[in-house]
Amino acid sequence: MSGNDIGAISAQIDSEIQGVDSSQKLDDFRVKYLGRKGILAELTGLIPGLPKEARSSFGQQVNLLKNKLNTLIVEKQKTLGSGSGARVSEVDIGMPGISQSLGRLHPITQVINEICAIFKQMGFLVVEGPEVETEYNNFTGLNIPLDHPSREAFDTFYLKLPGCPSGGKQLLRSHTSPVQVRIMKEKKPPLAVVAPGRVYRPDAVDASHLFMFHQIEGFVVGENIRFSDLKGMLELFAKAVFGKDIKMRLRPHFFPFTEPSAEMDISCIICKGAGCSVCGRKGWLEVLGSGMINPNVFKNVGYDPEKYTGFAFGMGIERITMLKYGIDDIRLFFENDLNFLNQF
Ligand code: PHE
Repeated sequence: MSGNDIGAISAQIDSEIQGVDSSQKLDDFRVKYLGRKGILAELTGLIPGLPKEARSSFGQQVNLLKNKLNTLIVEKQKTLGSGSGARVSEVDIGMPGISQSLGRLHPITQVINEICAIFKQMGFLVVEGPEVETEYNNFTGLNIPLDHPSREAFDTFYLKLPGCPSGGKQLLRSHTSPVQVRIMKEKKPPLAVVAPGRVYRPDAVDASHLFMFHQIEGFVVGENIRFSDLKGMLELFAKAVFGKDIKMRLRPHFFPFTEPSAEMDISCIICKGAGCSVCGRKGWLEVLGSGMINPNVFKNVGYDPEKYTGFAFGMGIERITMLKYGIDDIRLFFENDLNFLNQF
C-alpha cells in the first residue's frame, strides 16, 4: 500500500463525514475507521510487512489520519449535540462542583422565633391574628374611645372592601393588641398568650419609621395576677434577649387598654447606662409598652372584672432587633440586600 492510498482514504473520509447527520451514523463512521477491525487497524496491520525504509513514513501518515478522524468525530459530536459514549471523556469528573448558596431566615423572623421560644418556655401559647381587622377589635374593644387621637385616619389605614360585612369598618391593624380581644372572646381564663405579626401605620418612612413593622403582643389573665408578676416576667424576658447583665426599669405611661400602664426601659446596650448618643445621654432605651389589663376590656369580652385580673405587653420587633444588633436604620430590614441579611 502506498501513500497515495492513504490520500484516497483521507479524501473518502472528508466526503463521508459530510453525510453524517445522526449519532447513529457517527457511531457507524467511527467503527468503520477506528473500530477494532476498522480501516485504520487494517492499515496499521500492514506496517510490519512493508520494506524497512517505508515503515516509518507510512506509520506517521496513519497516525495523522487517526488524529484527523478523532478531530472530525469530536467536532461532529458537538454539532449533533449527541450524547454518544465517546463524549463522556470530555467531562472532567474531578472538577469541583458549583456550590449553591443556602437561604436563611430573615433576622426579624429569627428574633420573633427567639422571643416566642422564651415565652413558650414560660408556658405561653403562641397564636396569630389577621392583619385586616375590625375597627371594634383594633380600638373599641380595647377601650380606645371614639375621640382618641390614634383613631384618626392619619394613624390607621382604613379599608374600603367590597362586600364588607355590616357592623363595622375594616382596617389594617395598627397594633397586635386586637388579638387580645379575639382570644379573650374565644377562650376562658386562665390564659397566657403571645401573638407575633405585622402591623401597619401610615408613617413617613425614615431611619426609625416604616408603614409596616412587626410586634409581639403578650397577655396573661387569671385570678390574682399582679403587677409584680408582670415585672418579674419582663425582667426574665429582658435578660433572655439582651443578656443577664442588662438592667430594666418600668416608667409610668398611659394606654387606654391597661391601667396602670408602664413602659419598660433597658440599660443602654452601648454605654451600659453611662449615657451616649444611642440612648440620647439617658443611659436607658425604651423597649416595650405594658400594664394591667383595663377592667373595661374585660367587660367588653365578657369576663368578670371582679374575678379576673391580667397584664399585657406589646413590643416592636424591628426596634428590639436594632438594639440587639446595633443597627441604626430600620429600612435595612426590607431592602433585600444580601450583604446585610447574610450577617444574621
Ligand atoms: N399596643 C401598644 C402599642 O402598639 C403596646 C401595648 C400592648 C401596650 C399591650 C400595653 C399593653 O403601642
